[in-house]
Amino acid sequence: MNGNTDILAIETSCDETAAAVVRNGREVLSNVIYSQISMHTLYGGVVPELASRKHIEKINAVIRGALSEAGTTLDEIDAVAVTYGPGLVGALLVGTSEAKALAWAARKPLIGVNHIEGHICANYIEHPELRPPYLGLVVSGGHTHLLIVRDWTEFEIIGRTVDDAAGEAFDKVARAVGLGYPGGPKIDAAARSGSPDAIVFPRAKVNSSKYDFSFSGIKSAVLNYLNHAQMTGEEVCTADLAASFQKAVVDVLCSHTAEAAKEFGIREVAMAGGVSANSALRAEMERVCRENGLHLSVPSPVYCTDNAAMIGVAAWHEYQNGRFAGWDLNAVPGLRLGER
Ligand code: KG4
Ligand code: ZN
Repeated sequence: MNGNTDILAIETSCDETAAAVVRNGREVLSNVIYSQISMHTLYGGVVPELASRKHIEKINAVIRGALSEAGTTLDEIDAVAVTYGPGLVGALLVGTSEAKALAWAARKPLIGVNHIEGHICANYIEHPELRPPYLGLVVSGGHTHLLIVRDWTEFEIIGRTVDDAAGEAFDKVARAVGLGYPGGPKIDAAARSGSPDAIVFPRAKVNSSKYDFSFSGIKSAVLNYLNHAQMTGEEVCTADLAASFQKAVVDVLCSHTAEAAKEFGIREVAMAGGVSANSALRAEMERVCRENGLHLSVPSPVYCTDNAAMIGVAAWHEYQNGRFAGWDLNAVPGLRLGER
């Protein structure tokens, strides 16, 4: 024992097979990610059955890589953590089964981690000064949540999407304009040479709660624009369309965040999830926060998209609270934030 707590974390909730070793919940000793993107690109999106099979094929090598890069062994680590939801059930089952087998064989405690909580915790890796309470914006392929992080493991959701997640909208629009999968990075790149003011797409209004989001309206407006152009034989400028769509999404995310910070009197803001890797969102959120006297934390892009280091960070809070999982830990595809 060296006084440190080293956690081996495993993440297989979607299309990245990932493992990491994280020391004391903050220091990333290794972060290995095998991305399945090239395989799913052939089908224009994630094929769940193929994702599970690929996880099985890669997981042992990824874990071995994470341990050796960290210069440690299974014997030396203090706990095994794994994402148990939300996500694709077959994909989650590969990670949870592997984690249970390893923890059992090595006689280590097992920790179950909520994937969304992991995304939020990614911020602590490079922003150790960040501490609750703060306002969090989680924007990923499956989730869009505006929330107040009350304490390390206590979350109050004040707004969520009523239809598509922000990343889902990026992926669907990219597919419609022929940019392919994964849509987010492709739109981000195409938008760099386009004008965000070329086409005005609607900013969705939602009746349920003033902090809720809706992205299906913007997506439909893009599809209508494309259909209309096709019927009238007008040429579509993909760069302009990408930049204008991106601006519509970014505007809504930033204005909701700034309004909530004002209403709840919170000056600390953190973004997380795959879409927070978006260059326009990072720049605009930075600008809006500066203008409103707010301090913003955003992880480096590698910690925005799925990775296991963020799972190791979230697991450390559970470890400190003595909250360990039993050998009956199961995959929970619809796991909610804050649910145990
Ligand atoms: O967090 P994540 O890796 O997985 C989920 O938990 O869903 O997020 C993936 C999502 C995808 O929809 C992807 O298109 C989007 O994040 N994304 C981006 C960018 N990079 C990834 N969206 C916009 N701009 C990006 N640069
Ligand atoms: Zn994710």
